[in-house]
Amino acid sequence: MRHFLDLSDAGGDALAAMINDALDRKAARRGWPKARPDADRPLDGHVLGMVFEKNSTRTRVSFDIAIRQLGGTPLVLDSATTQLGRGETIADTARVLSRMVDAIMVRTGDHAKIEEMARHATVPVINGLTDRSHPCQIVADLLTVVEQRKALPGLEVAWLGDGNNVLHSIIEAAGLMKFNVRVGTPRGYEPDGAFVEEARVRGAAITLTHDPVEAVAGADVVVTDTWVSMGQEHAENKLAAMAPFQVDAALMAQAKPDARFLHCLPAHVGEEVSEAVFEGPQSVVFDEAENRIHAQKSILLWCFGKL
Ligand code: CP
Ligand code: NVA
Repeated sequence: MRHFLDLSDAGGDALAAMINDALDRKAARRGWPKARPDADRPLDGHVLGMVFEKNSTRTRVSFDIAIRQLGGTPLVLDSATTQLGRGETIADTARVLSRMVDAIMVRTGDHAKIEEMARHATVPVINGLTDRSHPCQIVADLLTVVEQRKALPGLEVAWLGDGNNVLHSIIEAAGLMKFNVRVGTPRGYEPDGAFVEEARVRGAAITLTHDPVEAVAGADVVVTDTWVSMGQEHAENKLAAMAPFQVDAALMAQAKPDARFLHCLPAHVGEEVSEAVFEGPQSVVFDEAENRIHAQKSILLWCFGKL
């Protein structure tokens, strides 16, 4: 059973295979209508159930289109309108869905919930974001970086802002794909030390700093995300602490001249990123968003043992 709860479930070799497969499939269907299945329909007849306990645009639409392009069918389950929202247990939901669908994607808050779903499911479970991590996003991010003709080993990635779920998965990817991350956060907003330690053990250089310039200096890729993630309070003191970490043109100028800007979206232009950077020539955020489709396809194929 191949669950995809975090990037380490797949490992570096599988991540590399996913990126290559996504590049190939993307190229093979360039210009096609978006829901037309790929010629080989590798998941013909398969149903992907998607359970959402939090809002989503990209994850929802990209998984929906991804399973169609693989020849399968999507089924969206908003928890508020299912019995899960009325207290049916995760264990029973996992066992029932396993009889009815071929894979389950879950977006929820507490990471323990998705682990419980995986313990009881007899089909692959995919993490579509928890408070702890967002592995699917980072497969799309790596694909976007490779498309920009940047090699992953030795890449210098700068993160600015909140030490959140997206950053955790970037740090995990760094350990698996052997790139380095310089993390610039205000004091008190650092990432979970367990991710940092594990990546360092795997050989990645992970630098934690409270100086935004030190974080971005010489970087190949600059990444940020919202300062207030879903489920967090909109605290004024947090926004004030984050202000020096806004990715603006002056900070971007500290990175390499050909550096690229990534953001998983949704963005709050004027908060974590200035309009000039978000709309500027170094920004590849809409390629990154499109690549969610291509990445989800390779994640699904890996879960079904086809990669
Ligand atoms: N980046 C991302 O996961 O977007 P959604 O919240 O819209 O799915
Ligand atoms: N860190 C953000 C990512 C949204 C895709 C959140 O958890 O809300």
